[in-house]
Amino acid sequence: MRIGNLTLKNNVFLAPMAGVTDSPFRDQCIAMGAGLVYSEMVSAKGLAYRNANTRQLLISRSDAPCAVQLFGSDPEVMAQQAASGELDGFALIDINMGCPARKITGNCEGSALMLRPSLAYRIMEQVASAAKVPVTVKIRAGYDEDHKNAVEMAQLAQRAGISAVTVHGRTKEQGYRGVADREMIALVAKSVDIPVIGNGDIVDGKSALDMLERGCAGIMVGRAAQGNPWIFAEILAYLEGRPYTPPTLEEKKAVIMQHATELVALKGDIAMRQMRRHVCSYTRGMRGAAAFRGSINALNTLDDLRLLLEKL
Ligand SMILES: Cc1cc2nc3c(=O)[nH]c(=O)nc-3n(C[C@H](O)[C@H](O)[C@H](O)COP(=O)(O)O)c2cc1C
Repeated sequence: MRIGNLTLKNNVFLAPMAGVTDSPFRDQCIAMGAGLVYSEMVSAKGLAYRNANTRQLLISRSDAPCAVQLFGSDPEVMAQQAASGELDGFALIDINMGCPARKITGNCEGSALMLRPSLAYRIMEQVASAAKVPVTVKIRAGYDEDHKNAVEMAQLAQRAGISAVTVHGRTKEQGYRGVADREMIALVAKSVDIPVIGNGDIVDGKSALDMLERGCAGIMVGRAAQGNPWIFAEILAYLEGRPYTPPTLEEKKAVIMQHATELVALKGDIAMRQMRRHVCSYTRGMRGAAAFRGSINALNTLDDLRLLLEKL
């Protein structure tokens, strides 16, 4: 699949997820076959103020293509950051126009931009002309049932020089509830010439194929990849008509340990706090996992994790 001048090895992508898609997790998804992975969302303003926590989100060690996702509402600040050397190494820049969290929309960022198409256009246009790499945008089906304007937004994106649009088929009002509107995604795919990436409720090969059959050039997997980087191997096998063998318990444990070790190497022992969430996801549904949920919240070191996994 091509996005701007970038050629990707396939069209099955990992969605940006704050608190989840850290660099070691992205590496696991790449190892399982993901064609493109996205960073957690990064504040353009935070970068402009050289905020240390914000800059830490830019750590990326893999050579495989990775997108960095920026959020913000000021076209100049967004464009300045898009052009800055800080983002060197990322294969593309994605603009967040989908986040429904109040602390984001309250600043007219994220999905609030779905209600401000002219500001959204200026952001897209200025970022696209300032960036050294292709620029994409991630939108929702609309703001609410009365404002389902994904088609208009995608057409604006195309006019602004954006190289691809990802559509999460829910409105801002829906948050993560209900089901993603795939009819709306299909409508967007018909309405623009740039590639459309379909997102929402892809959980296996069948739902991935269904999204592609709606006219999407690519697909993006969010929650179903949490604690399950193997989903990329599963989806790719399904799409290519190959058999898929799920990982064994020992393989899963090895991936959890590797993820944790790399996160600690990047961030120090504080990383284990972040890792607790991952461990919850990795072990969901495993036999015996419910019994040690409490111990996950007490994980402080890699040795704690090693002992916990031995009990599984
Ligand atoms: C924990 C979490 C964090 C998320 N963070 C972001 C984010 O930083 N940027 C973004 O564009 N979307 C974010 N999303 C939305 C996902 O990228 C995706 O659009 C959404 O989960 C729908 O896809 P899914 O049904 O496959 O999960 C987040 C979702 C979750 C569950």
